[in-house]
Amino acid sequence: MSRPRVTNKLILFLVALAASVLAIYLFWSFEPSIKTLLEHRMGTTPSPSAVTIINAVKLLLIGILAYLFVRALNLLFFGLAFRLKRIDAPTLIRNIFTIVVFTILFLIAFTFLFPEVNLGALFTTSAIFGVILGLALQDTLGNFFAGISLQADRPFQVGDVIVVGAERHTGVVEGISWRAIKVRTFQNHVVLIANSNAARAPIEVCPRDNLNARLVFFNTLYTDSPAKAIHVVREAVREAENVSSRVPPIVRIRNLGDNGIDYEVKYWLEDYAKYNDTDALVRQRIWYAFRRAGLNFAFPTRTLYVERPSRTELRDGDGGAVVERLSAVDIFAPLSVEETGMLAQAATRHVFAPGEMVIRAGDPGSSMFVVHNGKVRVQVNDNGRPRTVATLNEGDFFGEMALFTGEPRTANVVALEETEVLEIGHAAMKRVFDTNPDLVESLSFIIAERRQGLASQADASVPATDSSAGVLSAIKRFFGL
Ligand code: CMP
Repeated sequence: MSRPRVTNKLILFLVALAASVLAIYLFWSFEPSIKTLLEHRMGTTPSPSAVTIINAVKLLLIGILAYLFVRALNLLFFGLAFRLKRIDAPTLIRNIFTIVVFTILFLIAFTFLFPEVNLGALFTTSAIFGVILGLALQDTLGNFFAGISLQADRPFQVGDVIVVGAERHTGVVEGISWRAIKVRTFQNHVVLIANSNAARAPIEVCPRDNLNARLVFFNTLYTDSPAKAIHVVREAVREAENVSSRVPPIVRIRNLGDNGIDYEVKYWLEDYAKYNDTDALVRQRIWYAFRRAGLNFAFPTRTLYVERPSRTELRDGDGGAVVERLSAVDIFAPLSVEETGMLAQAATRHVFAPGEMVIRAGDPGSSMFVVHNGKVRVQVNDNGRPRTVATLNEGDFFGEMALFTGEPRTANVVALEETEVLEIGHAAMKRVFDTNPDLVESLSFIIAERRQGLASQADASVPATDSSAGVLSAIKRFFGL
């Protein structure tokens, strides 16, 4: 509580005390005259009703004095004595203290002024009436007592922003009456929340004299540096109106999102009731700062892979490179440009990762491969250990043995690096052979030579000595030439 408010309260208290003491003094001094006046008016002497009225006024004045006295006692006892011991008495205890002491003082005054009234009987008869009244006014009384507890507890004050209940009624508190809390929303509507509902619901309080924070979200492209984005936004936001200069804004990454890097900026407000405007201003500052710094907001993005049939690609795309590659392969050298083009159209491209197996020894095979990009290694099994027979580079071919003879694959062929191969199938090769019977002969030489290379390695599955003539007749037989 601020100093001026305390002083004002004290002055008010002292004035009220002086006024009530003066009122009692005056009333007591002029009591005989007032009595005479009343009796004169009522026309009966001595009038019991005049005495009753006088005593009732006395009781009222004593009641006011007793209330002020209890408040002073409360302040003295809890405000000073407890504080000395550094204990903060709960509000509820203070209230109970006030009620009990006041009731005792009031009853003492009552029995002193109205000795003829039997208080016990009065309470018994009024209890039944109280139950009936209580049931009838259940809601109203509920609101009333909840209002008293809100007033006593003071969880929030006028001017604070509150968010009430599951409906999240949000706005600035304008007042707490005996029935409801009056909240002005940011659309300038007034919402009245019944005290009894408010007492049950969770209430989020953003006190007026407290530094309340807000979060504003934004994002950037993945290509924008987080360090730069954080610096730029922090500097842009700290200068904005109503952003507290007492605590610098915090900018941090919330998520590596689908579209870009998601950030939040946390800033503190001088006047929380204006948070909508300040949020908007902060967003605006971010936009301008982004513009100046060359940063980009991330729009929803998708990575699209457009797949085209490889043959079409060969024909329309970089098919020229494939034709070039095939025409540089020595066994295809005798082919005409059209025949090489036809072979290129029939070829299928495959990419293998480093270490991936393109061909496995022992598998059946009905196609051969040309290394388009990269490098492969031909390996045979040498007493359980892999032994390299040859390393093939761009323009070399492999897999021809199984294709031309119909036998299982003779070796493993493994990609040494990311390797792209062109696969040519049985049908395409048959078309080539039909028009170039000489090709069969040159191929048979190569195959026979490679077989010898394999045979010299210790792989028992490969026929040891197969002459080129034997290979030639095997190819012719297999292709039906
Ligand atoms: P294929 O038997 O169909 O499958 C394995 C391939 O390895 C084989 O065809 C040949 O293309 C290749 N290959 C086998 N031995 C050698 C070798 N000595 N030199 C080069 N390549 C070979």
